[in-house]
Amino acid sequence: MCGIVGYVGPRAALDVLVPGLEGLEYRGYDSAGVALIGAGGLTVTKTAGRMADLVAALDAEPITGSVGIGHTRWATHGAPTTGNAHPHRDCDGTVAVIHNGIVENWAALRAKLIANGHEFASDTDTEVIAHLVEDRADMDLADAVRDVMKLADGSLAIAVVRTDEPKRIVAARRGSPLVIGRGDGENFLASDIPAFLRHTKKVIAVDDDRVVDLTAESIVITDLDGNETPISEREIEWDLEAAEKGGYPTFMLKEINEQPTAITDTLRGRIDGTGRIEFSELELDNKIIRMIDKVFVIACGTSYHAAMMAKYAIERWTRLPVEIDIASEFRYRDPVLDDRSLVIGISQSGETIDTLAAIRYAKAQGATVVGLSNVVDSALARDADAVLYTRCGPEIGVAATKTFTTQLVMLQLFGLYLAQNRGTLDPGTIGNLVAAIKELPQTVERALQLEDQIRGMTGEWADTRDFFFLGRAGDFPVAMEGALKLKEIAYVRAEGYPAGEMKHGPISLIEKGVVVIGIATDSHVRAKTLSNMEEMKARGGTIVMVVEEGDEDEVASVADHVIAVPNSPDLICIVNAVVPLQFLAYHIANAKGLDVDKPRNLAKTVTVE
Ligand code: G6P
Repeated sequence: MCGIVGYVGPRAALDVLVPGLEGLEYRGYDSAGVALIGAGGLTVTKTAGRMADLVAALDAEPITGSVGIGHTRWATHGAPTTGNAHPHRDCDGTVAVIHNGIVENWAALRAKLIANGHEFASDTDTEVIAHLVEDRADMDLADAVRDVMKLADGSLAIAVVRTDEPKRIVAARRGSPLVIGRGDGENFLASDIPAFLRHTKKVIAVDDDRVVDLTAESIVITDLDGNETPISEREIEWDLEAAEKGGYPTFMLKEINEQPTAITDTLRGRIDGTGRIEFSELELDNKIIRMIDKVFVIACGTSYHAAMMAKYAIERWTRLPVEIDIASEFRYRDPVLDDRSLVIGISQSGETIDTLAAIRYAKAQGATVVGLSNVVDSALARDADAVLYTRCGPEIGVAATKTFTTQLVMLQLFGLYLAQNRGTLDPGTIGNLVAAIKELPQTVERALQLEDQIRGMTGEWADTRDFFFLGRAGDFPVAMEGALKLKEIAYVRAEGYPAGEMKHGPISLIEKGVVVIGIATDSHVRAKTLSNMEEMKARGGTIVMVVEEGDEDEVASVADHVIAVPNSPDLICIVNAVVPLQFLAYHIANAKGLDVDKPRNLAKTVTVE
């Protein structure tokens, strides 16, 4: 996830691009850059770091022009360095391109371009677009971009300028967001409305596989064959703050709703046409994958709940023994590790010091370490032997939501990848599970429709002090995460517990007024969870059951409320089950008037032991 912005009109373009990019920093902030076309031709300034670094570079060496494009990056291909920052240029510096998304076939395109004599200056997938446009120098710029869009696979929102067309920007969209702002004698483009909202409230959404030809006076949108398509314009009523949150009242609610897109982006390019799982970035020799005899998964907070799920997934699908540890405990128990151990460190930020210390310890014992992070080139990514990334874009709300569900998805995929490469599951079973994972953006989208039901049921719980979240097997990590969300943002005592263990102690706390939420989507233990929930009901608890669609009748007699999530097989379904619990915590906190994005005493990234 990155932010792009473009301006064409009478003003100094930088006066629009810089504040525009500052408004988009929530989409990514590891490097930034601008390209302007002015009297002196095409100039590009870019820097690693935040917008403030770019502004300092522009102050040190001012550039001018009234047509320009700008980018704030959240790295997906190539480390967040100045060289990899956008805009990217062609060989002779006549074309500049910014891009949000992933060009999936970049490696093949790059190899071909290099064979034809092009020289690359970065490690990014984006740079191929600049060189492909360069190869079409004799074509009209919009024709060239249409042609390139047909060659590039994957998700693209791009904007291109070329020195021989100094009053024009051509942009295109597939998958990644792109909106146009219509001004008076000037026009704007961006990933999101906050980038130009201070200049115009007239907004045009761009559909997939459309090319936008922008001058100061005109906006023309065509399909990839050059046929003009109708433009539908609307007037935005949000202010700037609301716009950054995409019209949602909080970042957390926005991020909950972004989960289908975050999962789609995370899956992109990782399952080939035949259903085979490919992790092109995972530089881990297949020999090591075959040699490992034990797996450790280490994390903190919400990421630890993803680790809990990983244990079930990897053990179930590979028959490798898996130990899981809270990172701050790992080193101090003197774990038995050697060079046949695989350690997976999970940290969305990649900077949690306990997790870093744990994986460094594991490496020192000879283990192979795979990191799972949402931040490219984070400390975890650099310290690990190999790294996998979720691709959610920055998460601003302190309570993890989209980073958690994408961790679950990546760990399920990684479990199946191990099974595929070690031959522990038959290809048909892997194929069915992979197909279900590919369906998750749709099933999670449907789970988001449960919000109204949950808001309705939580209305009466604003003053409830005690919640239990119970589950068994794959539903247990979901219970733990549901409880943690409620503690974090609603400041309510909430316990996540294995449903079958309640009878050994905590059941003494169940009485009238206690809300007990049972998660029962993992089919092989559902009946047992239900019996445990009967025990809670008998002690006076208010019972909420989270089940799969179709199981509502089975739980009707025990439950005061039933939440039915879309079906997915085996452990995959727990991704759907997490969503209503995020809403549950959110609406209880919201009803109490709490700041859900910045809960008291918590930090998004914890860099102290
Ligand atoms: C903090 C955050 C949690 C997060 C935990 C681990 O405590 O408030 O939301 O789950 O750190 O973060 P990590 O970046 O390592 O996943």
